[in-house]
Amino acid sequence: MENIKFNLQGSLITEEELRKIQPEIMEAQEKLLDRKGISSEYTGWLDYVNRIDKKEYEDIKITANYIKENCDAFILLGVGGSYLGAKAAIEAIRGDFHNELCRPQIYYAGQNLSGSYLKRLIQVIRDKEVCIIVVSKSGTTLETAIAFRIFRELMEEKYKEKARERIFVVTDRNKGALKSISDIEGYKTFVVPDDIGGRYSVMTPVGLLPMAGAGLNTDEFIEGMKSGVEEYSIRDFNKNICCLYAAARNILNRRGKEIEIFVNYEPYSISIAEWWKQLFGESEGKEGKGIFPASLNFTTDLHSMGQYVQEGKEIIFETTLTVENFDEDMEVPYDNNNFDKLNYIAGNKLSYINHKAFQGTFLAHSEGKVPGLVISIPRMNEYYLGKLFYFFMLSCGISGYTNKVDPFTQPGVEAYKKNMFRLLGKS
Ligand code: PA5
Repeated sequence: MENIKFNLQGSLITEEELRKIQPEIMEAQEKLLDRKGISSEYTGWLDYVNRIDKKEYEDIKITANYIKENCDAFILLGVGGSYLGAKAAIEAIRGDFHNELCRPQIYYAGQNLSGSYLKRLIQVIRDKEVCIIVVSKSGTTLETAIAFRIFRELMEEKYKEKARERIFVVTDRNKGALKSISDIEGYKTFVVPDDIGGRYSVMTPVGLLPMAGAGLNTDEFIEGMKSGVEEYSIRDFNKNICCLYAAARNILNRRGKEIEIFVNYEPYSISIAEWWKQLFGESEGKEGKGIFPASLNFTTDLHSMGQYVQEGKEIIFETTLTVENFDEDMEVPYDNNNFDKLNYIAGNKLSYINHKAFQGTFLAHSEGKVPGLVISIPRMNEYYLGKLFYFFMLSCGISGYTNKVDPFTQPGVEAYKKNMFRLLGKS
């Protein structure tokens, strides 16, 4: 049967190592699922898909239809957990060049403080019919707040009174500057639940509204995640791939592997890696602990970083995401002249050649002492993406608890903000 699979055969991990770590993993899983661990008040994501507010979800679909009918483009304003999940899903499902091939076009802002980025984005969208989706749980994040101020002004200039019909807000139920502005201006708002932190919020309106606005099948996404909730709650170490992934990561880390590289072979997955990096980096990197999450896009990066992975410091392990089936593919054409000597692969699909590249790379890296883990999904669609996101979130929670850190807070993020605000003279 088609399903997400996890394979640790290339990990160089022994049965003995797995047997040894098993009790720790099971204890961590129990803490997480029974909500007995630290910061368990932020584990609302565990079963959120099974208790989605039907009315709010209906409202998301109505809003998405409005966006699709009235916009050439929408701009998603947000940073970190407030936009990475939606961006990952939109790019993975709509695919490469989606803004050239699909409507509405989607642009991102509020994720940096670059004036030139915003200036150019404004040029791009100036003559289009646009909507804005602004996402900020706290409602006070500087990057997002500045971009919103700029785009609000633009929208008001362009649409006058009607601007408010084109601005949609996802924020806290009661507090924050964004909530106050929304109440005053009468923007349509959706709620980020109190018990779910940014990087675990992709299945809430934070992810669902932009995904639906982009034309993704959110019903399927939710179904996939529900299947993850059921399957990955099993308390059986050898049958639960979240437990095995969490175990493998911790074993490798304890052996001195400080860096986990998320590898993908499809450019449309690049933003999944960005979402994954935030999830694990912000959840585990604290108290002097944590695996540094990095990402590489193969085969492209084999021509830049491949050398380091193969022969550099032995502090790396790789987690590769592979996709088994493709709706769109290309064949290498046959050429009578064969000047380029490629006829030996003529007639083969690119997906086949890409897979051979993966197998060759995987072998070379494990021979070079880079342990490899493999996660494969049957095909890239909303269902398996929802399930994949859940797989990673649950694995991350288990892994964090195993490593005795709090996976649901991010105190370190405040340090740069404190300095920046002081330097900006904020009172
Ligand atoms: O995962 C997190 O909690 C963070 O990455 C936040 O999502 C990010 O800092 C944005 O915060 P906010 O949604 O409050 O603007």
